[in-house]
Amino acid sequence: MRYLLDDNMVIDWLSDRKLSAECQQKLEQLLSKGKLNIAASSLPKLEAHFKASSAHQQWRQLLSQIKIAKTPSYLDPQTLSQSDSIDSYLLEQSAKAIDAKVVRSENDLPQSDTVLPINFIDLKEQYHQMQSEMEQAMDEVLNNSQFIMGPAITKLEQTLSQYTGSTHALTCGNGTDALMLALMAIDIQPGDEVITTVYSFFATAEVIALFKAVPVFVDIEQDTYNIDVSKIAARISHKTKAIIPVGLYGQVADMQEINQIAKQHSNKLGHKIYVIEDACQSFGAEYRQQKSCHLSDIACTSFFPAKPLGCYGDGGAIFTDDAALAKKIDSLRLHGQSTRYYHKYIGMNARFDNLQAAILNVKMQTFADEVRARLKLGHRYNELLKGSDIVIPMIKSDRVSVYAQYSIRVKNRDAVVKYLNEHKVPTAIHYPMPLHLQECFKEMGFKAGDYPVAEQVANEILSLPMSPFLTEAQQDYIVKHLLNAVK
Ligand SMILES: Cc1ncc(COP(=O)(O)O)c(C=O)c1O
Repeated sequence: MRYLLDDNMVIDWLSDRKLSAECQQKLEQLLSKGKLNIAASSLPKLEAHFKASSAHQQWRQLLSQIKIAKTPSYLDPQTLSQSDSIDSYLLEQSAKAIDAKVVRSENDLPQSDTVLPINFIDLKEQYHQMQSEMEQAMDEVLNNSQFIMGPAITKLEQTLSQYTGSTHALTCGNGTDALMLALMAIDIQPGDEVITTVYSFFATAEVIALFKAVPVFVDIEQDTYNIDVSKIAARISHKTKAIIPVGLYGQVADMQEINQIAKQHSNKLGHKIYVIEDACQSFGAEYRQQKSCHLSDIACTSFFPAKPLGCYGDGGAIFTDDAALAKKIDSLRLHGQSTRYYHKYIGMNARFDNLQAAILNVKMQTFADEVRARLKLGHRYNELLKGSDIVIPMIKSDRVSVYAQYSIRVKNRDAVVKYLNEHKVPTAIHYPMPLHLQECFKEMGFKAGDYPVAEQVANEILSLPMSPFLTEAQQDYIVKHLLNAVK
């Protein structure tokens, strides 16, 4: 929750008059958490008040720390023209525009530091923390009106390339498009086989089937839930075109071993087997000191809002060091055009929006801090749950997980979910059914028992709230109830 101080509250606070010590302490706390605001419309009046006062210095100091709430342009002219107090109307509208509570007296401040509500992913808090930068970035795009492939896209692609170390970063419509473009770039054909994990979000297998290629599923490791590398070689045939490992829940798969298998068999078969990293959940993760998205021939990521780097809608990107592939992908995402209105390939309309790119340009400024916060919370969950019957995530020693999800395993999942939800702890199941058992693949003739590890994990997996803005108090609350639930 954010708070917007009315003029009298600011005057009382800084002039050290009526406010109690407890109230002053609350204000200080909210200020340090970035949750206190003054309306832009209050500034001239407050400046005039403090100019002649001994608290002028405190006022100026407050201005350097407090957030300023905008006056929205969408004021109601009718109300404005008839209002008895324009000041108070502006204050209320400023509060509404930033979803804040107006503080007119001590009673409007929070009673105590509350733990609830807990959000599964706290996108709102993230937005609140960077709202003014976001507004500025969005205003720039709206004012220059370059909505498609504009300067924000160019800037973002440079930033993504620098961040991951990949020579080329090409944004696109979403993570599914990214996977499709990657498969089109390697010239996927009907009947080609693509080896992938049997346990992922559906899109990983969907894109293969969409091109009438054949997803060849491999079971997962019991501890990391990523593709079991020891089972890949046995599934390679002369039709194998690519391998798509997924960095599930934010931990990258055994990429070096997978690259080696692909290389060895490419040499034997006389055609290249591409490795396409599905990094839709692992952007920001590391593998042997290298960033996810720069670990194989091509990588694909998603900027879906709930992802570690999420925009305010759909988005995605493709990464490669291969200049020819990058050129082809660049063309494929723009209807396969070579130059305007001349089309070399059958492609897609898979462009990313400039407005979304502007949002990600702001988010990239704090992304490394957010990854650190995720890591800290992930490790803290591990510590708090150690020694219980709950299976905690196993992160291999040469990897840094970005904890896109913090997923545990419990035997009595339904009861645990019920108990947690009753105590207002949101949960999610990623994913309740492995890919081979999905109805759309029934023609392929799979049955329960074909991929026993994935099937067991699907029955036991449970994701807990995770986002850089989860507080330790909230985490303690979640863990306390979780431990009660599994008793
Ligand atoms: C592993 C994986 N692959 C692909 C996708 C598809 O990404 P998008 O939703 O951006 O199309 C997702 C998104 O959830 C994913 O988690």
